[in-house]
Amino acid sequence: MPHVDLQLSDRSYRVAIEPGALRRVGSIAREHAPSPRCAVLVDDAVAGTHGATAIDALRAAGFEPLVHELRASEKEKSLEATTGAYRAMLAAGLDRKCPVIAVGGGIVGDVAGFVAATYLRGVPFIQIPTTLLAMVDASVGGKTGVNFPLPGSPGEPDVGAAADAALGKNLIGAFWQPRAVVIDPETLRTLPERHLRCGLAECVKHGILRDASLFDFIDANAAAILALEQQVLTTLIERSVAIKARIVEADEREAGVRALLNLGHTFAHAIEPIVELDLHHGEAVAIGMVAAARCALHAGSIDAGDVDRIARLLASLQLPTRLPKPVDAHGLLRAMTYDKKTEGGRFRLILPEMIGRARIAEDVPANLIVHAWRDAGASADDTASSVETSGG
Ligand code: GLY
Repeated sequence: MPHVDLQLSDRSYRVAIEPGALRRVGSIAREHAPSPRCAVLVDDAVAGTHGATAIDALRAAGFEPLVHELRASEKEKSLEATTGAYRAMLAAGLDRKCPVIAVGGGIVGDVAGFVAATYLRGVPFIQIPTTLLAMVDASVGGKTGVNFPLPGSPGEPDVGAAADAALGKNLIGAFWQPRAVVIDPETLRTLPERHLRCGLAECVKHGILRDASLFDFIDANAAAILALEQQVLTTLIERSVAIKARIVEADEREAGVRALLNLGHTFAHAIEPIVELDLHHGEAVAIGMVAAARCALHAGSIDAGDVDRIARLLASLQLPTRLPKPVDAHGLLRAMTYDKKTEGGRFRLILPEMIGRARIAEDVPANLIVHAWRDAGASADDTASSVETSGG
């Protein structure tokens, strides 16, 4: 079976990737689960489809699963959701040997992972992601958690990253590596195409960061990927996961190089919560990656040809590369200061240097960011605003 191994000493694990793997989760889970009893925390969006297949496979392998549904929404990615799972697991008498198995997208994987990290001080965890975004990003690397509103944050702002702050995205969590990740690319057949494209943005991100040949592979196979050709999808997922795996191995707890995985995300967090733009996460990341590339261009640290190739590949995957409506660039700049990845008022951004290489740039001047937002279609009245540059 195609796979990627993560080497993290006693927390090492295998990511298995194969069409049809969902029907074999029972035997994979048995290798990692000392108890026949387990909790399957399943995304309500796939409970009747992929969830049912996984549960049948677990039962066929001798498991007695407790099935508990979780809602795949940012608002319900909460401590209340974990409390519901703890209650069900305690009522069923699940002990420390009983694994938690997550089936679904990234939100459910994050919540289930946090339940696994905290129930009885930690139980084995298995991830079965069913969205492309969860397959190539969220399910690998051990980040788990829930949202928790900041004390005193405004009710429900819809402006920039202030809204993320109000939602308190991923403020409560833990690093808790899974014992295994099982990826079945066939599950992508039921994924809405818009969600598939959002996952593709993260694959392109991995190519830009570390692997020009992955970038070329996506470019050469865009039509086959969008047509869900299973062999091409398997290769795409395997290569994307391999890049994430190598970065996580080098920096499990994001003390350094793991921050590269945030390419495009600081820009994205400024626009994702703006309701009128109606952007999904991957779409905001696509716009954010192009903005980051243009920022690097204005800093003189990337060739224009590479910036064009990034924008063209994303467009060929039908991802947006510009804002769908004009927004004030200075407002977006201010919103970026709410992002938890900006430190001490300076702009710390991930900037591509070429396709296949990126760097963590400290002290990026604000005017470069405003310039990049304007390239993305933002409006900016330079005479009306006093933008403070943040050094560098
Ligand atoms: N999603 C970014 C990371 O896992 O570090």
